[in-house]
Amino acid sequence: MSDPQEIAAGIIGDPHFSRLKDHLIESTGLAYYRDRDQYLAERIGRRLSKLDLNDCASYSQRLSDGQEGRVEMDAIIADLTIGETYFFRDREQFDAIRDVVIPEILERKQSSKRLRIWSAGCANGSEPYSLAILLARELGHRLDGWHVSIFATDINRQSLAEAQAGRFQEWALRSTLDTVRQECFAAEGRGWVIHPEYKEWITFEHMNLVEHQFPTPRQPVSHFDLILCRNVMIYFAPDVIHRLIRQFHESLTDGGWFVAGVAEHNMQTFSCFDTVGVTGATVYRKSKEAFPKTGTSKAAEPPGLLTKAAAASLPQPILCARAARNEGFAPPEIRPPTIDELRRFADRGDWDSAIPCCNRLLAQDGLNPVVHFYHAMLLEQTGQGVGVKRSLRRAVYLDRNFLLAHYYLGLALAKGSQPRPAAHSLENVLKLAAGLRDEQAVEYGDGLTVAGLKQLAKMHLQNLGVS
Ligand SMILES: C[S@@+](CC[C@H](N)C(=O)[O-])C[C@H]1O[C@@H](n2cnc3c(N)ncnc32)[C@H](O)[C@@H]1O
Repeated sequence: MSDPQEIAAGIIGDPHFSRLKDHLIESTGLAYYRDRDQYLAERIGRRLSKLDLNDCASYSQRLSDGQEGRVEMDAIIADLTIGETYFFRDREQFDAIRDVVIPEILERKQSSKRLRIWSAGCANGSEPYSLAILLARELGHRLDGWHVSIFATDINRQSLAEAQAGRFQEWALRSTLDTVRQECFAAEGRGWVIHPEYKEWITFEHMNLVEHQFPTPRQPVSHFDLILCRNVMIYFAPDVIHRLIRQFHESLTDGGWFVAGVAEHNMQTFSCFDTVGVTGATVYRKSKEAFPKTGTSKAAEPPGLLTKAAAASLPQPILCARAARNEGFAPPEIRPPTIDELRRFADRGDWDSAIPCCNRLLAQDGLNPVVHFYHAMLLEQTGQGVGVKRSLRRAVYLDRNFLLAHYYLGLALAKGSQPRPAAHSLENVLKLAAGLRDEQAVEYGDGLTVAGLKQLAKMHLQNLGVS
């Protein structure tokens, strides 16, 4: 039996599957897999075949097997985690950090001249490197004599190794200005290598947020001025999120700042923070009154919202709000977007709404083939052709029966002068369509029938002239 879907079905039926699933979710926090047995089983299936094991019981045994077990845990974590990230992801948040957060910290910490940042769940390093680039290029003139440290952690050792190497594919720079790309990276083959100067402030470290101790005041890196934990907790269960938020809160200096992913805002979750609305972004701030310090750290500094000087230096008007419990202010709760919403934006050509909506969907449901399919359509429509094939490949990887994704992948490959792979994709369309009724509507095809799609695929195949 070599069909991954059949193998997965066998694993789901294994009497030890449910215990193994609980163990993996508990050890990583990835409750995302709670109702995604198929995805989880496919990943376990890949590990079983790699290790030549037959069932969940022997795999659980391997995981508990000392050093070998730890190595195996790292291997499955690399497969389970979703590392979707890119430089300057959600640009408005970086603007808020540049325009509001860092100026406030620089103003407040004049005497110690220490700036400590933590990127928790840093994936391949795009996030901490974006911060280093932003600080050096845009605020470097104000950092003379400052000691800057960026602590970057992740549970995925493979991602950390990539981060340390500092090598990135074009795709990771899709939101990076050309000038930044040219000045901060060196081209290498088909990718880019970050200049070593942007590594100087960053320390990459392995850390499992749900199992490891958070940095304590006794450690050299703690008492952060700014913590980013973006698009990490979206995969966790509410009780774990609440615990982690408390721990992040503890790890911040008084008056320190917290940035969550754009799809993660929820008043209740962040109620221990003050909410600060900056044009286009919401960030959080530790408020002294609500949670008096329990420790005796000398690093404590006067809290408070923006100082006059920092506020005066802001280029755009900002809204500073106390959290709801203080002054009855309730910032709008951002609902998770849906694919239907994305379709509606795309159907009316509203790209400004469709793009952030799609990015949020990718962050919250990165294993959904339909989201990758629409992502490809959006990239195509907005003239960012470079990622189209990749998104379509992801869509067909996640659902090999995704007819329309095979078809568009064929077109994208043909456009990119890759006739053979293009023909292969179009032939896949014909093979899959052979099992369907001609009059049947193609999924996501806006009324296109299977017969119509077959005709189109045949026409493109002929045009390719590949025998
Ligand atoms: C979608 S990426 C987000 C990367 C980056 N923060 C961003 O927003 O672009 C999520 C990251 O969280 C990491 N992660 C998942 N569970 C974790 C855990 N329990 N502890 C630490 N990191 C974890 C994953 O390995 C992955 O690199």
